[in-house]
Amino acid sequence: MYRTHTCGELRMNHLNKETTLAGWVQTIRKFGSITFIDLRDRYGITQLLLNEKLTEQLDNTPLGREFVITVKGKVSERSNKNINIPTGDIEILVSEFKVLNKSAVPPFTIQDDTDGGEDIRMKYRFLDLRRNAVKKNIELRYAVNRAARNYLHQQNFIDIETPFLIKSTPEGARDFVVPSRMNSGEFYALPQSPQTFKQLLMVSGYDRYYQIVKCFRDEDLRADRQPEFTQIDCEMSFVDQEDILQMFEGMIKSIFKEVKNIDYAETVQRMSWEDAMWNYGNDKPDIRFDLKIANLKVEGKNHFEGLDHSEFAVFNNAETILAISIPGCSDYSRKQTDELIEWVKRPQIGMGGLAFIKYNTDGTLKSSFDKFFNADQLKSFAEFCKANPGDLILILAGREERTRKAISDLRLYMADRLGLRKADEFRLLWVTDFPLFEYDEEGNRWVARHHPFTSPKPEDIEVMIGNNPLIENAEKYLEHPYSKIKANAYDMVLNGNEIGGGSIRIFQRELQEKMFAALGMSKEESQHKFGFLLGAFEYGAPPHGGIAFGFDRLCAILGGSESIRDFIAFPKNNSGRDVMIDAPSTIDEKQLAELQIKLDLK
Ligand code: AMO
Repeated sequence: MYRTHTCGELRMNHLNKETTLAGWVQTIRKFGSITFIDLRDRYGITQLLLNEKLTEQLDNTPLGREFVITVKGKVSERSNKNINIPTGDIEILVSEFKVLNKSAVPPFTIQDDTDGGEDIRMKYRFLDLRRNAVKKNIELRYAVNRAARNYLHQQNFIDIETPFLIKSTPEGARDFVVPSRMNSGEFYALPQSPQTFKQLLMVSGYDRYYQIVKCFRDEDLRADRQPEFTQIDCEMSFVDQEDILQMFEGMIKSIFKEVKNIDYAETVQRMSWEDAMWNYGNDKPDIRFDLKIANLKVEGKNHFEGLDHSEFAVFNNAETILAISIPGCSDYSRKQTDELIEWVKRPQIGMGGLAFIKYNTDGTLKSSFDKFFNADQLKSFAEFCKANPGDLILILAGREERTRKAISDLRLYMADRLGLRKADEFRLLWVTDFPLFEYDEEGNRWVARHHPFTSPKPEDIEVMIGNNPLIENAEKYLEHPYSKIKANAYDMVLNGNEIGGGSIRIFQRELQEKMFAALGMSKEESQHKFGFLLGAFEYGAPPHGGIAFGFDRLCAILGGSESIRDFIAFPKNNSGRDVMIDAPSTIDEKQLAELQIKLDLK
């Protein structure tokens, strides 16, 4: 027998028990004629004590870090207890040990504070996974998985697998494609999500489906994006938006409870997309703190009257002016405001500069544009921004889209500086009433904001059917009736991250065809790409809708991290490479010949 107990198990109540343990050597400390070894396995660390005789044996059988050994011995009370580990009261008086396997010197130390940088840890991910910090994340991931499954099972959902070798699904990213040997010249696409399959399952009558499933998207990677990632993918029949929001609010609360022992008692707050954009500058606001935006000028229109007669060219020339009042920062020094100016000028933010007003605690105001605004004007500026004495008002002026994005980034940056984004505080939010379409400037056409299977709001169906999607005047696309159509779609946001998104679907062939046409697809093209779905809609498709949660993201946030990579056993780096197995890689001539593929690399 290799072991009777694990390395995390033995306590004072096991005193004098004869045990056998197996694991990895974490550290070896020689003290005169005796030796201490920390033995580690998945469950913890136990101290071993090797007497004089066994220590002498080490001269012939040298041990090193990460050697795999098994030891026999008696549990004994430690004279020098370690209160930092659960097994810290005891040690094993070893009577016998055996090396099961040697280990090369690991390229970094396998402990909580490792000396290994990210690159080396990724190359040797199997060693990195031995570290507590990583193991904790992998265990949390499993806990979230279990909690989600438990809840969905209780709610009558059934887990059904859907294929990976499929035809393109339009979720907005590029497809990963796989050549077919048996059908030369033809390719499968890996699913960006099981979207069309889960809808077909609704037509088949499986009214509550779920799957914790891999999705594949060839898109630019960031901390919260991987080319293959996992979704908790769900679909339900005979539901409207309210049913879905309630069901999945329930799921997320149940995950909070099971994984973090958090009772999220209050109803999840809801916010329309328009309100989110207006008040926070983006569609996934972090509502752990307030810091709302003041919309002084929007798309050329002054909302703050005090701008009407200003001589300040920066304000007059700007399409949009947005401000945010930061409490307790009116005493920022020149150096500190300069830092903020540099921050907004960074290419990632891309603003020309930053104006500010210090609303001093004594009620006086001092701005970076005092030449153009007198004290009274500044006062009404501050009032419009709902600022209070002690606030630093930060003002950005520029093109609408960029300025809104910049102010929302600045909002998060300032919240970070003020310590308002606490990793152990969780605030959920439903964002609803998204626009159905987005305008694509390049192609002068509409694209689906969520995906083409999303239904318009019932009251907007007529608008969609009754109007020609053609955009005759690109300049005035905002006046086209399609730009006002709202989607029956919703996102769940957790601490400023989109952790899930879904919609009520179109389930009638005519409306689905109209949707494809609105997106500029010819009848032939939509038949070629989605004939199977349009056909299925003719055989009794029930009203249905669903949602998918970003499983990796949810785990990362619950684990207090920004990076989903830490929560994936074998992740890819930012160039989409698995540096451990060195993939992607070339394939040999024979494989290419079988696929009848010739490379023409530029
Ligand atoms: P959507 O594209 O919004 O919807 O994806 C759902 C959720 O998946 C997560 N996510 C990602 N996580 C990691 N890496 C990525 N590259 C990545 N892309 C998306 C996000 C997102 O909220 N079929 C629809 C769902 C539906 O309509 O039911 C879909 O896939 O957290």
